[in-house]
Amino acid sequence: MNAKIVVLPGDGIGPEVTAEAVRVLEAVARRGGHALSFTERLMGGCSIDAHGTALTPEVLADCQAADAVLLGAVGGPKWDDPRARVRPEQGLLGLRKGLGVFANLRPVRVHPSLLDSSPLRPEKLRGVDIMVIRELTGGLYFGQPKGRDVKDGHARAVDTLEYQDFEVRRVVELAFRIAKGRKKKVTSVDKANVLESSRLWREIATGIGQANPDVALDHMLVDTAAMRLVTSPATLDVVVTENMFGDILTDEASVLAGSMGMLPSASIGEQGPGLYEPIHGSAPDIAGKGIANPVGTILSAALLLRHSLGLEPEAAAIERAVDRTITDGCRTADLGGTLSTRAMADEILRRLG
Ligand code: NAD
Ligand code: IPM
Ligand code: MN
Repeated sequence: MNAKIVVLPGDGIGPEVTAEAVRVLEAVARRGGHALSFTERLMGGCSIDAHGTALTPEVLADCQAADAVLLGAVGGPKWDDPRARVRPEQGLLGLRKGLGVFANLRPVRVHPSLLDSSPLRPEKLRGVDIMVIRELTGGLYFGQPKGRDVKDGHARAVDTLEYQDFEVRRVVELAFRIAKGRKKKVTSVDKANVLESSRLWREIATGIGQANPDVALDHMLVDTAAMRLVTSPATLDVVVTENMFGDILTDEASVLAGSMGMLPSASIGEQGPGLYEPIHGSAPDIAGKGIANPVGTILSAALLLRHSLGLEPEAAAIERAVDRTITDGCRTADLGGTLSTRAMADEILRRLG
């Protein structure tokens, strides 16, 4: 296997965690005789500093021409002025849109030896295995119009929650396909009691449900889903939802897993390279200290091997190594341990294969 991977370390802890994920990918490639090439590019705040924009057309083109893209995180206080015209996050959104990766898969599992790392009671957490599928290239993040103006002498800001039928259909259909390989159960999360876009979402999900009678579909309002995630998370399996709902629910879900640093994600589209990133941000509070948890990014690298390169055994080997490392009690600071980012990755590397 020959594959080109573009690495976008980004800002804050991004470079610290992607460096470890690349080491893991290199080890897997060496072992399996695969030729993986890695090209690093700037995206986010670092690209604003160098080029005045968070994502240059050249970097987007490099990503589009790759087999997969591995991303750390972007953003930080340096670029956080609410009046700024250029923002690191624009790069991330432009990249997702530019790659057409409309589905963001965020698996949420609770490792048995981390049951005590969550503020939730262990009996609530046992058996939690949720696949959140977040719509990623539409909804409130991309709807038009958006911006500022003045209305009746008052400053006004506008964001628009907009969906077209095909945008909903393709992500819900993907959720059903994924559910068929799991427990054949889909929870579609919306706010159909208030939002028109959610009523369209629910209508389309219902139709897909009727066409797939072997999969049980239920609809849940997003406020209820937020509550269920912490009261009975083990009853959820595949969850599919709008862009911002999915963003918020998965930060909440990371509490089940013990830390933001644990959760990976895979963003995929109809074709072309996938985008792989942990769900956490650039963690400015711990950046530069070498103590970030690299597991979310290393598990994202496993998803890259599975979804973009078709290397299932290699992906599973990384997941097993991470599992064993945690079972053996290795922990970074976010989980109450003392291992550095590098030392945690070393432990995972030792258990690979
Ligand atoms: P954050 O996810 O960066 O951090 C939230 C908390 O979780 C912090 O206390 C942080 O220390 C901790 N944390 C996160 N990842 C960790 C890890 N791997 N190991 C240990 N602890 C970890 O969220 P925030 O502080 O609200 O956002 C900071 C910046 O990151 C903002 O500019 C935001 O826009 C950006 N952001 C980027 C992405 C992305 O690039 N995909 C995602 C979320 C936030
Ligand atoms: C994430 C982040 C991003 C999002 C931000 C930084 C644009 O929170 O990847 O979860 O909201 O999608
Ligand atoms: Mn987020």
